[in-house]
Amino acid sequence: MGKSLIITAILLAVGLSATTGICDIRKGEKVDGKKEFEKYCAVCHPNGGNTINAQKPLTKKSLTADGVKSAKDIIVKMRNPGPGMTRFDEKSISDKEANAIAKYIMNAFK
Ligand code: HEC
Repeated sequence: MGKSLIITAILLAVGLSATTGICDIRKGEKVDGKKEFEKYCAVCHPNGGNTINAQKPLTKKSLTADGVKSAKDIIVKMRNPGPGMTRFDEKSISDKEANAIAKYIMNAFK
């Protein structure tokens, strides 16, 4: 009887630490580029379009034509945008968030 109690205790302990482990991974700031994009950018760029300047959507073709070829270039646009676009500095969107948004844009809009 003593033995099974100990085993139960061990199983419980292992189970508990496993659960908290998973919680920590969830908490560990993983940035959702899509969510961030919807929060900051979709007002003017719904579905990768551009409601202010229709000539400048976020499609690969338009980006490439304007020299925006990598995630880094997209971050440059956020930090130093063209006319009509809100400027997003490191305080409003951290580098980590900006990177997640940029990667999302590169993959989401063809
Ligand atoms: C207030 C409206 C507005 C918001 C909000 C906005 N943009 Fe823009 N964006 C624009 C306009 C207008 C342009 C065109 C600027 C120009 O003429 O260069 C643009 C251009 C761009 C371009 C270059 C497109 C091209 O084809 O050259 C990128 C990349 C971009 N925005 C990314 C973003 C990202 C990322 C966010 C969110 C963090 C964002 N924008 C939020 C209005 C906005």
